[in-house]
Amino acid sequence: MSEVLSLAKSYEKYFKIGATVSAAHLDAHHDLILRHFSSLTAENEMKYALTEPKEGQFQFEKADAVVALAREMGVKMRAHAPVWHNQTGAWMYRDGEKPAAPELIYERIDAHSKALCERYRKDVYAWDVVNEAARDDAMDPLKSPGESPVYRNSEYYKLCGAGFIEAAFRSMDRYAPGVQLFYNDYSECVPEKRERIVRLIRNLQEKGCRIDGMGMQQHYFAAPDYDELKRSIETYAGLGLRIHVTELDISMTALMHPGAKRLRPGEAGFAEFIREAMRATPEKLDRISDIYVRLFEIYRSYADVIDCVTTWGVADDWTWLDTFGMDPNLPKIKQHPLLFDEQGQPKPCVYRIIDAAGR
Ligand code: GLA
Repeated sequence: MSEVLSLAKSYEKYFKIGATVSAAHLDAHHDLILRHFSSLTAENEMKYALTEPKEGQFQFEKADAVVALAREMGVKMRAHAPVWHNQTGAWMYRDGEKPAAPELIYERIDAHSKALCERYRKDVYAWDVVNEAARDDAMDPLKSPGESPVYRNSEYYKLCGAGFIEAAFRSMDRYAPGVQLFYNDYSECVPEKRERIVRLIRNLQEKGCRIDGMGMQQHYFAAPDYDELKRSIETYAGLGLRIHVTELDISMTALMHPGAKRLRPGEAGFAEFIREAMRATPEKLDRISDIYVRLFEIYRSYADVIDCVTTWGVADDWTWLDTFGMDPNLPKIKQHPLLFDEQGQPKPCVYRIIDAAGR
């Protein structure tokens, strides 16, 4: 085991190591964050819903608290306040009694981008400009033949077509000239979805929009397909983009047999199924650790194009996976998807990942 226990320091020669924090949990792992991480993302505090709950009424207290931690760490932030179909006030899509015209939506995006960029000009090195705008077969299947096979049929898309993506990148380019601009998405290694993301990015590039990077979320609910991961990194890098891993975590369900039938909430037997699938045993925790070690091995092998690897959370005491996607009638099922345990202690894989970096 390594004596020098700092993930960020061990990985300086490869890429930054990032974590996502929320304003409510800033004190919980203060020393751990300072020691192990060299990039910071706000879990929710820089999103539209929190920074501009009503049009023109900006609230920055919570975002400021996260930014203050980044300053204390001496690092800059990945600003995750994207144009996204979630966590955005309904005001964005309305003009009084009418649906908002595209031009009005673009003006609103522009005003929002300006306000955030002015406030956090010195604190941000990368913006997630647009999040999850590509169609996803699992969460957003085609409902009618008239819908776009490439773009998610979000409120933004219904009102603006793909124009809102271009508008968001143009605004951010205007107000954040020296900062890297990212498109961010999940299931980014699934071939059909990857193809849509590629088309979305190419369309932006053909329109002359500046896009510098691809944010690969890397939430694992199924076993990683390591070959597709490599192919995806190469594909996105092949578009001339830098790569950030932006939201890495590994659910217990990633250990299920890849072909296993997944019951959904409401289906008979779901409660037993999900309890068993998500029950953390020492043997399963070891296998999650193995996945982390393998993923980092691959990330290191692409260090020429990867600039940052961020986990979605710091330690297992606070993770969105503890409540995500469960039937609300089920008891909370504790997940252990991160690199640090509930007490903030490094898991065995942290030592292995650090050791491997030295080789
Ligand atoms: C998505 C978003 C994140 C976050 C996670 C889950 O991946 O990009 O901002 O909301 O879901 O918490």
